[in-house]
Amino acid sequence: MPDVSLMTDLPTAAAARPAKPHLPDAQTVTSVKHWTDRLFSFRVSRPASLRFRSGEFVMIGLMGENGKPLLRAYSIASPSWDEELEFYSIKVPDGPLTSKLQHIQPGDEIILRPKPVGTLVVDALLPGKRLWFLATGTGLAPFASLMRDPEVYEKFDQVIMMHTCREAAELNYGRELVEGLKDDPLIGEIVADKLVYYPTCTREAFHHMGRVTDNLSTGKVFADLGIPPMDPATDRAMVCGSLAFNVDVKAILEGFGLREGANSDPKEFVVEKAFVGDGI
Ligand SMILES: Cc1cc2nc3c(=O)[nH]c(=O)nc-3n(C[C@H](O)[C@H](O)[C@H](O)COP(=O)(O)OP(=O)(O)OC[C@H]3O[C@@H](n4cnc5c(N)ncnc54)[C@H](O)[C@@H]3O)c2cc1C
Ligand SMILES: NC(=O)c1ccc[n+]([C@@H]2O[C@H](COP(=O)([O-])OP(=O)(O)OC[C@H]3O[C@@H](n4cnc5c(N)ncnc54)[C@H](OP(=O)(O)O)[C@@H]3O)[C@@H](O)[C@H]2O)c1
Repeated sequence: MPDVSLMTDLPTAAAARPAKPHLPDAQTVTSVKHWTDRLFSFRVSRPASLRFRSGEFVMIGLMGENGKPLLRAYSIASPSWDEELEFYSIKVPDGPLTSKLQHIQPGDEIILRPKPVGTLVVDALLPGKRLWFLATGTGLAPFASLMRDPEVYEKFDQVIMMHTCREAAELNYGRELVEGLKDDPLIGEIVADKLVYYPTCTREAFHHMGRVTDNLSTGKVFADLGIPPMDPATDRAMVCGSLAFNVDVKAILEGFGLREGANSDPKEFVVEKAFVGDGI
């Protein structure tokens, strides 16, 4: 649920600004929350016809100065049952889209192409017992959707969310989401003790430290959680981070005997890039 204390009153905010031209595939922003100077989340109205599988992404954006839509891929962070859509976004200071998108307010419109796609879907995995979500940075977004999907808990006995950021403040969106889930009237009972949250930082003192890759390859995460190492007979994984992260995690998962799958060829793990490019 959005934090109502941070929502601007919608009709007042919209009325205070001059009318803007109606965008193609327009959706209205309903709330915005800034988490750090480089991270924010926002919610928009959901097109009545939009059906998606938790974990998929869509193209969203704003009208560019040349009059053409400026669109980027964004994982839908809300679950498929939510009546609105939520997104979790980076703010790239000179990024063509996010230098502008970071200033959206309730009542504003964004463009949203209602064609969801992606590989981080439960259907792309063979049945298993434990499901690992492995993310860095905004790579958490697809898992913010999947962690709120009852189907995930119907299909797996345990779901382990490993999320790593440089600093603790960058974990807050995910931490608040996980903490809120246990009390969620819709899926709190289903999630119960099945969801295990394992956040880590790499550049600031935190109760769990280290890269996802190191915590998997040294066995630290298995020891901390008191569980056996990954086994292709029982464990499934979904990976979303920078290209370097995805490459390194893939090698570790393959070392455990897991194989990469796809929508058309379900196997033990699936991977998706959280963004294209390696430096801001
Ligand atoms: C499948 C897919 C799903 C995505 N989902 C999300 C999402 O849910 N949330 C989100 O914030 N972004 C997501 N992205 C990235 C997004 O598409 C844009 O790149 C991002 O919004 C920045 O847009 P921009 O035009 O401001 O800058 P761009 O020109 O797109 O990017 C400029 C540079 O910024 C860096 N960068 C871009 N995005 C990120 C990021 N998310 N984290 C760290 N560095 C980044 C890269 O180095 C990139 O070269 C996704 C990308 C892909 C391919
Ligand atoms: N986060 C910030 O405060 C910040 C501020 C300004 C600019 N930037 C720039 O923004 C871009 C993205 O930054 P980001 O922090 O979102 O993403 P990032 O640099 O990919 O780091 C996110 C987390 O992933 C870890 N990581 C990176 N590569 C990995 C790999 N190959 N295997 C396992 N773990 C890995 C990092 O650990 P390590 O710490 O060990 O690398 C960090 O904990 C970078 O180009 C960065 O220079 C970031």
